Amino acid sequence: MATDPVPDAAPAIPAALIGRLRKARAIAVLSGAGISAESGVPTFRDAQTGMWAKFDPLELATPDAFRRNAKLVWDWYAWRRELIGHAKPNAGHRALAALEPVVSGLLVITQNVDGLHQAAGSTHVVELHGNIQRVKCSREGTIVTHWDDSSPREAPRCARCGAFLRPDVVWFEETLPDDALACAERAARDCDVLLVIGTTAEVYPAAMLPTYARHHGAAIVEINPNPTRLTDRVDFALRGRAGVVLPALVAAVWPEAGLPS
Ligand code: OAD
Repeated sequence: MATDPVPDAAPAIPAALIGRLRKARAIAVLSGAGISAESGVPTFRDAQTGMWAKFDPLELATPDAFRRNAKLVWDWYAWRRELIGHAKPNAGHRALAALEPVVSGLLVITQNVDGLHQAAGSTHVVELHGNIQRVKCSREGTIVTHWDDSSPREAPRCARCGAFLRPDVVWFEETLPDDALACAERAARDCDVLLVIGTTAEVYPAAMLPTYARHHGAAIVEINPNPTRLTDRVDFALRGRAGVVLPALVAAVWPEAGLPS
């Protein structure tokens, strides 16, 4: 993936995009790790800084990895939970939250497990890949709020059935929660505009949502400092950081949202 210098200033917002967004009845957002990068949460596939540049997903984020070494997987997620626990929403998350009272049909579909959209104040959020702050029993799927993390040798266990606990996130080779995926597909089908923010669109089924939305007549807007596999197929590509581009976009299209232009 290209890593050209990231422009600091917001790109000009094309008049055609402003018109399309003002007319839109329903707007959906598909966000990925890039929207949280300015909050200090590492992305996955950025060449130097991405998680998968330093760690092997097959050792940490699959059911097999957990079966082989539950403690290693638990500790890695505990480290990430702690990192994310200290992160605060940035101007990109806040711009989307400021839009919710102004655009009635706004839905944020996120691949992120960090909860930062909700922390910024967004309430219509679909989490496709779960949430890292939730923990569940690996056997029964029950959500657990307390656990004993004191063993140096093994992952904490479910107090009810004794199985290991795991983060409530979707691993590679696992299916997405049915209701979240159905809701995301509905929104992609019904929206007039889909904003695709901070994702390489490499991971399915989330990555098929832009194609699906386009097929149903939506305009696709990509917000990303770098080109992606989607870029050639979007209607508008706004090159820059989400924390810079989103406030500028919201100020240009919806002055009533009250963001400084
Ligand atoms: P990636 O790491 O694949 O992509 C992050 C994208 O964010 C890249 O296109 C960057 O150019 C872009 N980016 C970086 N900084 C940005 C900024 N400040 N503003 C906007 N964009 C920025 O992350 P995802 O596409 O989210 O899944 O990855 C999808 C899934 O793969 C994740 O949910 C995770 C991962 O494996 C699971 O763990 C199941």
